[in-house]
Amino acid sequence: MSSTLLIRQAEISDIKQIMEINKLCLPENYSFDFFYHILSNYGEDCAVAIEEEEIIGYVLSRIEKTFVSLIGIPNFKGHIISIAVLPEFRRKNVGYKLMKFVMERMINKGINTIYLEVRKSNYPAIELYKKLNYNFKRQIENYYRDGEAALIMEWKKQTAN
Ligand SMILES: CC(C)(COP(=O)(O)OP(=O)(O)OC[C@H]1O[C@@H](n2cnc3c(N)ncnc32)[C@H](O)[C@@H]1OP(=O)(O)O)[C@@H](O)C(=O)NCCC(=O)NCCS
Repeated sequence: MSSTLLIRQAEISDIKQIMEINKLCLPENYSFDFFYHILSNYGEDCAVAIEEEEIIGYVLSRIEKTFVSLIGIPNFKGHIISIAVLPEFRRKNVGYKLMKFVMERMINKGINTIYLEVRKSNYPAIELYKKLNYNFKRQIENYYRDGEAALIMEWKKQTAN
């Protein structure tokens, strides 16, 4: 990887390239409206990787309200929605840097827990998440349209005892 790699916040104008990479790399393809919704509402927590002025990877994430406590205090979690790096740029730390970028953004907003779903057979992605200290939480059978199970993996901020 040359030293020109740039990771920056995703913009709505990146939508076409993000959708192309998503189609090329993943069986989970979302509608234009879905990408538009995520980028316009949660763009701060989404990022693209740029090499020689071309987008070569992206990550979409958002902060979600998970529950409100009995005394009315809301709880929030980060959710990694989708990540992909073009095949010719893989194993060059791009995915790791994309994840770090959005995780740091969410952590700076006070998020202590981040979760994601990953296909049980997706070894490269599972290894990436393990390297980032995500732990296996549970398995959901038949999560994907083709019947494959999803692993739910979760990152938690370390608290000093
Ligand atoms: C998963 C994906 C985003 C990883 O992107 P990447 O840029 O190749 O990953 P990185 O180079 O940043 O890898 C970081 C670490 O992840 C792990 N890793 C990544 N790819 C791996 C592979 N093929 N085999 C084993 N470990 C792998 C390694 O621990 C690696 O660290 P190392 O290179 O020091 O060993 C990429 O493979 C991809 O786009 N896959 C298709 C889309 C996809 O499956 N997305 C995830 C959906 S949940």
